[in-house]
Amino acid sequence: MPLVTTTEMFKKAYTGGYAVGAFNVNNMEIVQGIVEAANELHSPVILQASSGARKYANSAYLKHLVEAAVETSDIPIALHLDHGADFEICKACVDTGFTSVMIDASSRSFEDNVAVSKQVAEYAHEHGVVVEAELGTLGGVEDDVKVDHDKAMYTDPDQVEEFVKRTGVDSLAIAIGTSHGAYKFKPGTKPQLRLDILAEVAKRLPGFPIVLHGSSSVPQEYVRIINENGGKLEDAIGIPEEMLREAAKGAVCKINIDSDLRLGMTAGIRKHFADHPDHFDPRQYLTDGRQNVKDIVNHKILTVLGSDNKA
Ligand code: G3H
Ligand code: 13P
Ligand code: ZN
Repeated sequence: MPLVTTTEMFKKAYTGGYAVGAFNVNNMEIVQGIVEAANELHSPVILQASSGARKYANSAYLKHLVEAAVETSDIPIALHLDHGADFEICKACVDTGFTSVMIDASSRSFEDNVAVSKQVAEYAHEHGVVVEAELGTLGGVEDDVKVDHDKAMYTDPDQVEEFVKRTGVDSLAIAIGTSHGAYKFKPGTKPQLRLDILAEVAKRLPGFPIVLHGSSSVPQEYVRIINENGGKLEDAIGIPEEMLREAAKGAVCKINIDSDLRLGMTAGIRKHFADHPDHFDPRQYLTDGRQNVKDIVNHKILTVLGSDNKA
């Protein structure tokens, strides 16, 4: 099966009451871990590359790694640009074979966000590529930009119909209390997601796919392994998986996960070195990192997304 767009994936996810996982990819082992899990569970999957990933790995390498994944599996795979900051970045990805792009102008004014999202949607649609935009601002760290949690802004449901109508985008990322990175909520606090805002948005946009960013759950087991083996991560908790599962049953068709994969990869490698201090072959320690990535994606598909056997 060739690379696909997310159009069909989202239609099925919306009516089927599940979501498709969008996992960030930065290197071969991450691509392999994700796709092996999705393939074994017959789940569709979105592989997404941020600007940081494209800088780190080179966009061409990422594109070809994803093509290798497509060649060696038989599930629907979409290649998505995560957090495209402007028209030029989105255009570059459309022109090089991404099947989906995100224009993230959520930190700009409503009118500027509308203008650039519309420009991207028009160009992408001419080339058969689908477009995600964002309304509202998430807290946390993405690329080199850090948004303080108190400066994050929930999506205003009163704006979503006008935004979608004027831009022509295909899906919308909204801010309901999720945030980027591994430090989302302080331990001992109760993570709150504004599922009421999600419900209101879904009511205003019937049948329209909603996207949740910043949806890592920060597995405490991996944080513990990292810290027991030389790491110094602060204690923090992530998004409760049962809340994400609820969201996936409704209008949320795409759930973004990156930090959990980073924690899994790092835990696998740190543990490997602790157990085998004499090892220096990257194939040995990366095997353990990759296995954790696979285990996490397996768990997300079964517990959070509900996308198993939907390929
Ligand atoms: O939303 C941000 C993703 O986690 C990507 O992170 O920009 O550091 O690659 P990155
Ligand atoms: P996390 O940092 O919660 O994994 O979010 C990733 C994300 O939203 C990528 O766009
Ligand atoms: Zn994001």
